[in-house]
Amino acid sequence: MTSTSLPRIPLEPSWVDAIGRRASRRRFDGRPVSPEALAGIEAVSRSVREAAQPVARAVLLVAAPEGLFKGLVGSYGKAVRGAPACMAFIGRGDWHLDLGFAGQAVVLAATAAGLDTCWIAGSFDADAAAADIELSDGEQVGAVSPLGYGTARVGAVSACSRQ
Ligand SMILES: Cc1cc2nc3c(=O)[nH]c(=O)nc-3n(C[C@H](O)[C@H](O)[C@H](O)COP(=O)(O)O)c2cc1C
Repeated sequence: MTSTSLPRIPLEPSWVDAIGRRASRRRFDGRPVSPEALAGIEAVSRSVREAAQPVARAVLLVAAPEGLFKGLVGSYGKAVRGAPACMAFIGRGDWHLDLGFAGQAVVLAATAAGLDTCWIAGSFDADAAAADIELSDGEQVGAVSPLGYGTARVGAVSACSRQ
């Protein structure tokens, strides 16, 4: 299955504002995400799904599965730790570009809601990610992101290593 055009995701002005503030985080303080914020992400995931189906969708997992995030892969930084929740980005067929658009919309919505994220397309356990998701024929989890509140940054070194 091939996407003939990019998903037409209605952009919220707050997502555009969030572009300059977004910075990936790999260390989270474990605080639970508020029910209101989770409901907001759920709603955004639904509208993204409508725009990007059947090629790409995002699913909110209110509890990040045990063992989801793996350690160092290639030149990437340290493993993700302490995230209470996560998002799974699911693709089908020729999904890469569509999933990038769909996933980044949800990532920016999360940033706008004061949450931290980090695209993870390699250093995650696909089985753990899929355990709580009903995948349709041909679908795969292409990437995930932690969702929560990053730990406080301590100085320039941490800023560089994207704590
Ligand atoms: C599509 C994509 C896949 C990525 N996959 C991983 C990954 O598997 N593991 C990882 O530690 N970082 C991964 N990263 C890198 C981080 O998400 C992040 O981009 C990087 O730390 C730089 O931070 P910034 O996004 O704030 O510039 C990926 C980034 C992108 C865009």
